[in-house]
Amino acid sequence: MDNFLIRGGKPLHGTVRISGAKNSALPVMAAALLTTEPVKLHNLPRVRDIITMGKLLAHMSAHVVTNEFPGTDYTIEAQTVSDAEAPYELVRTMRASILTLGPLVARLGKARVSLPGGCAIGARPVDLHLKALEKMGAVITTSHGYVEAAVPKNGRLKGAHIVFEKITVTGTENILMAAALAEGETILENSAREPEVTDLVELLRKMGAHIEGDGTSTLRIRGAEKLRGAEHSVIPDRIEAGTFLVAGAITGGDLLLTHCDAEHLGAVIEKLRQTGVRIDTDTPGQMRVRPAEKLVAADMTTEEYPGFATDMQAQYMALATQAEGASVITETIFENRFLHASEMMRMGANISIDGRRAVVRGPAALTGTTIIASDLRASASLVLAGLVAQGETLIDRVYHIDRGYEHIVEKLSDLGADIRRVHAPTS
Ligand code: EPZ
Repeated sequence: MDNFLIRGGKPLHGTVRISGAKNSALPVMAAALLTTEPVKLHNLPRVRDIITMGKLLAHMSAHVVTNEFPGTDYTIEAQTVSDAEAPYELVRTMRASILTLGPLVARLGKARVSLPGGCAIGARPVDLHLKALEKMGAVITTSHGYVEAAVPKNGRLKGAHIVFEKITVTGTENILMAAALAEGETILENSAREPEVTDLVELLRKMGAHIEGDGTSTLRIRGAEKLRGAEHSVIPDRIEAGTFLVAGAITGGDLLLTHCDAEHLGAVIEKLRQTGVRIDTDTPGQMRVRPAEKLVAADMTTEEYPGFATDMQAQYMALATQAEGASVITETIFENRFLHASEMMRMGANISIDGRRAVVRGPAALTGTTIIASDLRASASLVLAGLVAQGETLIDRVYHIDRGYEHIVEKLSDLGADIRRVHAPTS
């Protein structure tokens, strides 16, 4: 198993290219199941979850071809889908496998997908995905850890009026894809407005779907009988970009981020500016981050887009440990997303947790030690803490970070960080 070894205290300088968004790439790959024609995708990040999604689609007999391995350009051709099943072995390594459910039911009138369990950050049910499919005419049964969906009669889903009880990102994406091949019109209310949802809408439109309302919480989809192949480049990864903004700020460096989109990071940029961090967004596609003259505490609450992303909460907490004063951080999306806090406390951070609220008092002089990564974004926050800690930080279980950050060790090293991957002997 790999670890990261970081020697902190080096300000980061230079230019970093932001990769494509993992959370856009996953649904657009799943969307290829909706058509017999090739879907060509570009700017995919070279991360583990993309490889897993490729394997899952190949398991269903789609031809998955990439320019290199792991690659950024994929052609996925699901001429036939011989096995409408997402098996446990793949789903357990990536919850986003549930994104194949909507396209499979829409295309084949049936699907069998292993139920994703909870994960470190919360129970993460998929009940809202299932309820919506039921409204569209699917009969859903769950047994032996699998969801089985079947559409009786002609096997085609019917458009429906769906009001999500809670905003769900992959739920919105799953039902968007299902609705694109359903008979008649589907209206989705209280849907997610994340840029990744809008990116999927753009691909579906290129494939021939009629969709209105993207970027708002009401989506109207007029289903097509058939969808065609298309070519699409996914949007930049706003969470990777946000993580590098914090990396520049926390180390007192000066970074230029390229191939990114500041518009997708409005709430994060605003919050970082409140703490004193200087961010220049004047040049389209770029952001420059320079440190605060004095980093000051600012309260932050996670929200659905366009609010402050839960996927940036852990990284913000790392920054808050270095800010003067008390920052109250409230997590509203997931019930257990503070696991990084106890590791930061082992490094010397002053954090107290009360349910969904964390109070971080700073600045604290962090010192390196051995810490354990619990999920993708927690891992990123621990890397950030390690970059500012005095001495050596060893981060265990970095396979989490490999799921969603492309070449993070190389990117940070190129900016002057003292970080390397060490292969721990398996016991
Ligand atoms: C997506 O997860 C992202 N994953 C997550 O990114 C992100 O943290 C999350 O959205 C919130 O922004 C992908 O896009 C692949 P939700 P998703 O459904 O869709 C509850 C990362 O680090 N809920 O929007 O699974 C749920 O428990 C990952 O890249 C239900 O109750 O999240 C949560 O409390 C982690 N029933 C809330 O809604 C449902 O049927 C929002 O979850 C669905 C969700």
